[in-house]
This record gives sequence, C-alpha cells and structure tokens, in this order.
Amino acid sequence: MNHTTKIAILAAGKGTRMRSPLAKVLHPVLGRTLFGHVLAACRGLGDVYGIIGHQAEQVKAAFTDEAITWIYQYQQKGTGHALQQLLEPLCDFKGRLLVINGDAPLITTVMLEKLVAADTTTLLTANLPDPKGYGRVFCENGYVQKIIEERDCTAEQRQHQLCNGGVYCFDWPIVAPLLAALDANNAQGEYYLTDVFKSLQGVQSVEVADWHEVLGVNDRLQLSQAGQVLNQRILDQWLYAGVTIVDPATTTIEATVALAAEVVIEPGSHLRGATRIAAGAVIGPGSLLVNSQIGARTEVLYSVVRDSQIGADVIVGPYAHIRAGSQIADQCRIGNFVEIKNTVMGEKTKCAHLSYLGDSTLGQGVNIGAGTITANYDGFQKNQTVLEDGVSTGANSVLFAPLTVGEDSVIAAGSVITEDVPPQSLAIARSRQQIKENWQPKPRPVKP
Ligand code: UD1
Ligand code: MG
Repeated sequence: MNHTTKIAILAAGKGTRMRSPLAKVLHPVLGRTLFGHVLAACRGLGDVYGIIGHQAEQVKAAFTDEAITWIYQYQQKGTGHALQQLLEPLCDFKGRLLVINGDAPLITTVMLEKLVAADTTTLLTANLPDPKGYGRVFCENGYVQKIIEERDCTAEQRQHQLCNGGVYCFDWPIVAPLLAALDANNAQGEYYLTDVFKSLQGVQSVEVADWHEVLGVNDRLQLSQAGQVLNQRILDQWLYAGVTIVDPATTTIEATVALAAEVVIEPGSHLRGATRIAAGAVIGPGSLLVNSQIGARTEVLYSVVRDSQIGADVIVGPYAHIRAGSQIADQCRIGNFVEIKNTVMGEKTKCAHLSYLGDSTLGQGVNIGAGTITANYDGFQKNQTVLEDGVSTGANSVLFAPLTVGEDSVIAAGSVITEDVPPQSLAIARSRQQIKENWQPKPRPVKP
C-alpha cells in the first residue's frame, strides 16, 4: 500500500434536495450513515480528513470514536471550494490524495484501491442508464479531457452517458495549484472540483463494473435506491456464507449485523444494528431484531427483540416483545403476547402466554402462568421483582414490586402479591369464593 495516501471525504454540503433538517451525510441507510458507509469503504487506505460545514458539530459527534481530522468549510461554495480548505493543512504534503463525495455510500474498497494504486490522476466513472444530475466525463485518446456538470451541458452533451462518480485520486502537489486557481463561472456560481480536469494531463478514468457503485445520494429517492442496492449486496454476502434467506425481497439486514452459517431467515424479517445470530437459529417469519444476540437453534417467530441477549434453544413468539436490557438464558420459552423488559431469566424458565415482566430477575425453572403481570411502577420509580429458582405463578397473578418470591414457592392464580414470599411456600392473595346453595334469582318486575 502507498503509505503517502491521504483521504478527503467531502461532507460540508447541506443536501437541500433531501428536504431535511438533518445534514445529508448523516442520513442512515442500512445500519450506517452515508458518511459511515464511505468511511467503512476507505478504512485502512490512509489518514482521513472530513470536510464539514453544515451541521458540522453533529457530523463530528457521530464519529467521535474515529481517527478523523476535521476541516471546516464555513461557507459551502462548491466541491472545489471544499477541497481548497485542505490547501493550508496539507501545504507540505507530497503524496496522493483520494477524494470521495460523502454522499456515495455504495463505493467499495476494491475500487478505491484501484484508484490509489495507479501512478497518475484517476477518476471513477460509470456508464449510467439514467445520467441525470451527474457530471458528464469526456475523454480524448483514452484520457479524461474534461467534466461538464449537468446544468452546464448542452442538450447534446446531456445525451452522453459516461458520468463522474465523484471519487478521484490526485497527486496533491499537482492538483493543489489548480485548486487555488478555480473560478465560479458556471450555472451554479460554485467552485467545481471537476474543473481541475480541464488542466490535468494523463488522467485515467476507471470505470466501475456495476454502475450502482457510483450512485450519489442527493434526494430521498436515491437514498431508497442506495438502500435497496446495499441490502441486496448484504443478502448476497450472507447467502454465499451459508445463511438461508427464504425471501430476499422482504428481508433487510443492516451492514453491521453478523450471522453464523446455518441461520435461517424467514420472510418479512429485519435485522438491525449490532445483532449477532448463532448457528441454526431461525428468525421469522415477521421478526424485527435490533442490537440483539440470539443463541444457537433459537427460534424467533413474529416477534420484536431489542437490545437484548437470548441464549440457545429458546423459543420466542409468536407475537412476543422483548425490550431493552433483557437476558434470556438457554432453553427458555417466551410465548404469545408476552412483553419482557429489562429482565433476566434463568435457564429453562417459561413464560408462555399473555404476560408482562418488567425490571425482574427470574431464576432457573421458573414457570410464569398466563396473565402474570409485574406491577413494576409505583407512580414514581421502577421497582424490581425477584422470582427465585423453581417459582410458579398462577394465572392472572399481579406481582407488586419491589418483591421477592423465594425458591420453589407457588403463587395462587388470581393473587395480588404485595409482600415478599418465603421459599417453599404457597401465597394466596384473593378473596375466598362463596357458594350460595339453592340460590334463585329474584323474579324480574313485569314491564307495564
Ligand atoms: C458531484 C459532482 C458531479 C458528480 C456527482 C457524483 C461536482 C461539481 N459535481 O455533483 O460531477 O457526477 O457529484 O455524485 O463536484 N460538498 C461540500 N461542500 C460544498 C458542496 C458540496 O462539502 O460546498 C460535499 C457534499 O456534502 C457532498 C459532496 O460534496 O457530500 C458532493 O456534493 P453534491 O452537491 O452532492 O454534488 P453533486 O451535485 O452530486
Ligand atoms: Mg451528490
């Protein structure tokens, strides 16, 4: 690798065409922001300079863990003006500068490496079926001669389909003086980075095999197109890695998800964030998993799981909702219409129907009867419920927290338990049934 390569990601623009209060490069698509996808593609290729302006502080805040040198472009006067902001910080730099538009989330590392490896100025191009909005690239004798922005094209030039992908690799000492000399005599009154190509000699255009790679996101339609392409790429990658995806058309998997081989994803399922799924698990149909770990052979059917860990051989759903902070151990069963929040469940514990468990710790082999509710909120704060190993709750029990139920105790059906229960006990807290024998209803008054 060329150790004298530096990278500039242009991310100062407002993104007017997105019609959004959020800076364009911060729009998320398939698990990362637009900027995040670009950053992932150029990881390891050189030091990164992020050119920021519009919502600069928000952009910086989204990447605090990354080693990026932030450069401010206080007024956004075009892509050429954006790169001019590096003239001073890189005044002694003698190497190559890879420049990437921050709105190009489909760019791949392989293509970037190709641009960097060449020993001349390179430019990424694509023959676009619909070139609208892109700068058109004109070559002579195999070398790039000029780029004309769509709005400055004649009607004839607009028919030209070879387009600028917005990714370039320059020899910095050669391009720097050209940048300094840019003018804004064009339809948009901006300093176009693309104008430097009028003066550069021997520029090679590197054409992408798949034109999607250069897709620049300027509006929400392009954002959704980029999402579809990214999703298909990610699905293809997992399919080749041994994951079964029954219906790719109704499945989305974010770039940040990791799957083992032999996972099965049923239709209508969506895997997001730092989700990790172990071998043999079956997800869906119809499940949403966000930042969650799912153990081997676990099934998650028509359910939502967020920010939680689920062990091996667990059955979840149909129609369960496992909320943040839950840890479900191996061989548990969480059935239909069960909501679980911030709850730890020991091995082989079952909660099969119609229950709410919030802020609870359950031991091993606990059996939660249908309709059991932890009353965890007293109007001021959330309180803890502890059910030790082997506890059983009868149907329709209310467990009024804070509460501890000791090992192997049983809660009678229909009880409202407000006080701790010692181990090996039966707790009944409901009014006694009365029987009135030979009871006859009073005769109804006859209507006049
Ligand atoms: C640009 C190219 C066009 C190319 C297309 C590829 C120019 C003049 N045109 O057009 O040839 O086909 O990308 O997608 O470069 N930015 C700044 N500061 C600014 C203006 C823009 O940092 O003052 C950043 C934006 O945040 C964005 C990137 O530069 O990430 C590209 O800007 P954008 O306005 O999207 O350029 P395009 O019109 O798409
Ligand atoms: Mg763009």
